Amino acid sequence: MDTERLREKNVVITGGAQGMGAAIAEHFAAQGAKVCVTDVNIDGCNEVVARIRDKGGEAIAAQVDVTKRADVAAAIEAAVEAFSSINVMLNNAGINKPMMFLDVTEENWHQIMDVNALGVLIGMQEAAKQMIRQGKRDAPYKIINVGSILSRQAFDDVVPYSCSKHAVLAMINGGAKALVEHNITVNGYGPGVVRTELWEQLDKDLVAIGKFEKEGESMDTLARDMILMKRYSFPDDVVGTASFLASPESDYMTGQLLMIDGGMVMQ
Ligand SMILES: NC(=O)c1ccc[n+]([C@@H]2O[C@H](COP(=O)([O-])OP(=O)(O)OC[C@H]3O[C@@H](n4cnc5c(N)ncnc54)[C@H](O)[C@@H]3O)[C@@H](O)[C@H]2O)c1
Repeated sequence: MDTERLREKNVVITGGAQGMGAAIAEHFAAQGAKVCVTDVNIDGCNEVVARIRDKGGEAIAAQVDVTKRADVAAAIEAAVEAFSSINVMLNNAGINKPMMFLDVTEENWHQIMDVNALGVLIGMQEAAKQMIRQGKRDAPYKIINVGSILSRQAFDDVVPYSCSKHAVLAMINGGAKALVEHNITVNGYGPGVVRTELWEQLDKDLVAIGKFEKEGESMDTLARDMILMKRYSFPDDVVGTASFLASPESDYMTGQLLMIDGGMVMQ
């Protein structure tokens, strides 16, 4: 591993207590980044920070609900205080709760759209305001948003989630145009089926709504029928793409959503 790849990158990551967010926080720190690990689950953040520090990395934890602007602003302030500035914001926090299309409720819609779409908007805005305050530098500031295969298509049992991830794509495109004058790039990546706590729960929920008969079936079925590489993925499959988007190697790139899905969605 290149332990210098993310040297001088001061990163705020949302949803960093578990799953891909935790794996990325640890991977970034191992590549030289300083990381502010944020999540509603502060105990989980503290565990990730402890693992990073044990390996000699630099990290702090902050409790953040991404739907609350004051939380996000306070975490960014804490990161600036600890690291003196920020130059990468990774909007990773996300939730899902499947429901068949005719059963979708206003509550389901608002819950998912608030975290996955509004939460990303707030994260982008608060990070951009801080980056603008810091002034232009030679290297671009980077905002990275986590989309999905469902940024480019929709499944019938997760329509609000699909809408929220299409919104993420719209914010990557629109945000890139809005922020280029401040030397801020906006890109993202779209995972496919990643075995994390989110998918473990989704798998149970899909059985509960009658979409699959038994637990474990959903991931195997998708792998067999929809993933070109015939296997689902793990957080380690995704960390390299996230690192590329945070690194100087992607400096001349903005407005892009990269699929990292084993060949589920072809563009
Ligand atoms: N797992 C997959 O297959 C998959 C596929 C495509 C995209 N994604 C996206 O990747 C991202 C990470 O997913 P994951 O699978 O690692 O999920 P995960 O459930 O393992 O982790 C998500 C984290 O977000 C946190 N979170 C939830 N609501 C929050 C809020 N309001 N404020 C702050 N933090 C909050 C949770 O506490 C959790 O720690 C999400 O945006 C998800 O939609 C996941």
